Amino acid sequence: MISYTRSPETVKQAAGKSVASFMALEESNRDAKTVASFGEEWEKFNTFSEEEIKVAGDQYFDVLAGENLSHLQALDLGCGSGRWTRYLSPLVQSIESVDPSAAVLSAAATHADLENVRWTQCGVDELPFADGSFDLIVCLGVLHHIPDTGGALKKATTKLKPGGRLLLYLYYALDNRGIAYRTLFHLSTAVRRVVSALPGGLKRGVCDAIAALVYWPLVTLARLVRVFTQAYKKLPLAYYCDKTFRIMRNDALDRFGTPLEQRFSRHEIATMLEAAGMEAIRFSEGEPYWHCVSTRKSEPE
Ligand SMILES: C[S@@+](CC[C@H](N)C(=O)[O-])C[C@H]1O[C@@H](n2cnc3c(N)ncnc32)[C@H](O)[C@@H]1O
Repeated sequence: MISYTRSPETVKQAAGKSVASFMALEESNRDAKTVASFGEEWEKFNTFSEEEIKVAGDQYFDVLAGENLSHLQALDLGCGSGRWTRYLSPLVQSIESVDPSAAVLSAAATHADLENVRWTQCGVDELPFADGSFDLIVCLGVLHHIPDTGGALKKATTKLKPGGRLLLYLYYALDNRGIAYRTLFHLSTAVRRVVSALPGGLKRGVCDAIAALVYWPLVTLARLVRVFTQAYKKLPLAYYCDKTFRIMRNDALDRFGTPLEQRFSRHEIATMLEAAGMEAIRFSEGEPYWHCVSTRKSEPE
């Protein structure tokens, strides 16, 4: 694994695995309520089946599909339940998987069988690795939940070797959707503001109800329409047509239970990546929007 650049403040135990914790920074680019909320979320959704991980993982990793990654040292930044670490583990040489929430302890226990992975508790501001350490950083669904996304991208990409790559997924600003879709979405954002402020147990119950009463019926409709026409892809939540109800519950909690959420257009993401010294930005045309791969310039400006 890659050497830590400093000693951890504490070392925690998770099912026989030691997890070093680097959380001492007082002024950190993370939202405490959001991190706590994720700690609880991943307690509830800490295991996904191999099939669930493969189906969703193939969508996120499509921009790297078919490449030989076996010599790469990777960082899973904001690993949450560790599902993408599990997806990536057989494909790369080693992975440093980090997350500031308690989820990382649960992930270390759940994926204790992965021998080329080390789990560390820290956020993007506290990464205890030297600059230029990694060939690949995957950061999926993380940096839209923090106060300064552009600043975090700059911090993260310094950890890449020149020529190293970043696989990034940030919530889209609905820039490829029509007015009806956007209106529906803005209504759901108003609901999120209320639901995310509820206490833990109630919040999780309400999000389960949203999954059952909103996600599932809309997804069922999209599945029916899919039999007749490819236009089903334009329907709300059509993304979940090939996902399990468990994934819908998890994503409903993610979407409605998280206090801080930001959204970015494709153009805004490209601009932030360029400002972070990245080039060769290639967006996937597939969902989830937007995910892309980019390369750290050989000689950052
Ligand atoms: C939506 S989850 C995504 C988890 C995982 N990447 C996935 O897709 O399954 C967002 C994760 O970002 C983590 N997070 C929040 N603030 C962070 C920060 N400042 N640095 C790194 N990770 C952070 C949260 O603890 C949470 O586990």
